Amino acid sequence: MKTLINNNHTLEPVFSDTQIASKVKELAEKISKDYKGKNIVMVATLKGSFIFIADLARELSIPAHVDFVSVSSYIGTSTAGNVEFHYGPLHDISGKDVIIVEDIIDTGATIKCVVEALLQKGATDVKVCALLKRKTSRNDILLPDYLGFRLGDGFVVGYGLDCDEDYRNLKGLYKLEVKNENS
Ligand code: IMP
Ligand code: MG
Repeated sequence: MKTLINNNHTLEPVFSDTQIASKVKELAEKISKDYKGKNIVMVATLKGSFIFIADLARELSIPAHVDFVSVSSYIGTSTAGNVEFHYGPLHDISGKDVIIVEDIIDTGATIKCVVEALLQKGATDVKVCALLKRKTSRNDILLPDYLGFRLGDGFVVGYGLDCDEDYRNLKGLYKLEVKNENS
């Protein structure tokens, strides 16, 4: 995996597609074991999780329905915050075991709102599977039930994650740095 130089960005490799693939397989094995005999609905948050859910769903050995949501959250003075659904879920999730599939959790504020909203819509149980979690223990609002990798500081792109809609289609994960104009 090589460093990429694009426009005014330098992209340093973090995890290769093979490293990600084996982690996704591991996560799918755990989920398949935990939910054996159950029918789950996997709900991915758009757009960053579209590649992750495609790979994760195909590694499961149990039946699963797939759905998507697009949300924005407003964290106000209330502790719970509010979440507005722009799209989905299309499933009636009442009485269902739901797993939210998320690309990256920073504080967990957004995803906590989604968990609460899906429980309010009648889901029996809502768990979170995140590929990435930033190490910010000071501000952690929600920790995922299933986690791929912990990340240090820095903005990452690729494998579905973007910077102004660029780089989502890269196979691996890269740390993005703004190129020094003098170099
Ligand atoms: P949280 O609500 O603080 O957990 O923020 C999580 C959301 O911020 C993710 O769903 C992403 O959309 C976005 N985000 C946070 N860090 C990154 C990153 O390094 N690259 C791309 N998107 C990020
Ligand atoms: Mg996201």
